[in-house]
Amino acid sequence: MKIAIIGLGHVGLVTACCLVNWGHQVYGFDQDEKKVKQIKEGVPPFYEPALDQLLQDTLASEHFLVHSTLTEAISQCELILLAVGTPISTEGKLDLNQLWQALEDLVSLPILPPYLLIKSTVPPGTTTQIYHRLQDRVEDVICHPEFLRQGNAIEDFQHPNRLIFGLHHEDSQAVIQQLYHPFQKKSHLFQYCTPASAELIKLGANAFLATKISFINQMANFAEQVGANIEEISIGLGSDPRIGPQFLQAGLGYGGPCLPKDLTALSTLAESPLLASTTQINEQQPHFLLQRIESELGDLKGCPIALLGLTFKPNTNDLQASQAMYLAELLLQRGAIVQAYDPVIKDTPCKQLQLAQTIEDAIKGSKAVIIATDWEDFQQLDWSLLQRFRISNLFDGRNLFPYKRAQKLARIFRITYHSVGRPTIRVE
Ligand SMILES: NC(=O)c1ccc[n+]([C@@H]2O[C@H](COP(=O)([O-])OP(=O)(O)OC[C@H]3O[C@@H](n4cnc5c(N)ncnc54)[C@H](O)[C@@H]3O)[C@@H](O)[C@H]2O)c1
Repeated sequence: MKIAIIGLGHVGLVTACCLVNWGHQVYGFDQDEKKVKQIKEGVPPFYEPALDQLLQDTLASEHFLVHSTLTEAISQCELILLAVGTPISTEGKLDLNQLWQALEDLVSLPILPPYLLIKSTVPPGTTTQIYHRLQDRVEDVICHPEFLRQGNAIEDFQHPNRLIFGLHHEDSQAVIQQLYHPFQKKSHLFQYCTPASAELIKLGANAFLATKISFINQMANFAEQVGANIEEISIGLGSDPRIGPQFLQAGLGYGGPCLPKDLTALSTLAESPLLASTTQINEQQPHFLLQRIESELGDLKGCPIALLGLTFKPNTNDLQASQAMYLAELLLQRGAIVQAYDPVIKDTPCKQLQLAQTIEDAIKGSKAVIIATDWEDFQQLDWSLLQRFRISNLFDGRNLFPYKRAQKLARIFRITYHSVGRPTIRVE
């Protein structure tokens, strides 16, 4: 199929490369000229594991053509995928400016492809609003929400657990089957529903996941008060198939470009007290760790601290709504000298933050070490380094070390180990 993709951010670019890999011809458009130039040179504008090689292979196939303005080539396409950004506004609503602008650009073209698929996350009613605007020029406008996770985006695209389509016409299923031809024999993956339901499935999924995290974090905070261990509680809760083990890892809380944004959007739209509490608990979570650090180390003014991890989660270079960055800012506000190390971050907007080249450089001269992002590198942390640099306190904000292992390591290397919702391990 010939497919146009408007918006080559995380969603659009990964989608483009994967679709070419399935044999489609893709025309990619992004208004950001710098981004377009970079993509044409085979360099992804963001970090995503394995994307650089996939992009280079995709470009070499000559089935991916990239432009900074919409061209008439679009009229030869069978469908358009719209993947522009929908950030959150100051009023807590999804900002649809990029989407309306893209639509205006489309309307000005003499011929439009028959199908428009909206991959951007939008509030209920948006897809149908677009359909009414374009009704006499297209067959259907379909809401097709995206569920890929940054850091796992290619794998998620190639092995989806569901494909949701909010349609205005049942006939539109035929074009969807062509688009997703590798899954033609996996009919259980496809869910067809109304556009409004598809829009709400997307917002609901992220709001639910965020709520699960805030739930376990609140349980963790209470577990600390009563001397229980959240690791054991998570295993006990997650073994119930109605609950499931995922997103039950207590820690500093969620962040990134999707969970906080989609949760806030749904919370505002639905005026939901439940979702408002989810946000509030998440905002508090770094403060709990900060209190623990202060009660252990005392006044943080002038205190050198090593912070391991800055991104909102591992395998991405995204700092948006990162709880690790938030914790760094809280520490700096208290006057601490923060030496941060992150495997992929080489610069941040926070100028007071000192960036170390290696874990060792971050730890050297620090009074304590904090783990703020669950990068695999930190799971392999060499505790003898801590001992060598006379670190007596490790604050594990992501519960990266299973409790029994942490007990053993703490004893061997004589380090006090603090985590979230689990008793502190002290070595006399
Ligand atoms: N990033 C994720 O992990 C993720 C996951 C699921 C869903 N989503 C949703 O998918 C959508 C896209 O997300 P993203 O992370 O790729 O966004 P992004 O902001 O990284 O990329 C959007 C791209 O669209 C381009 N753009 C904006 N207006 C344009 C126009 N008029 N014409 C051409 N290009 C235009 C921008 O220059 C940018 O490159 C959002 O609605 C987001 O909520 C994102």
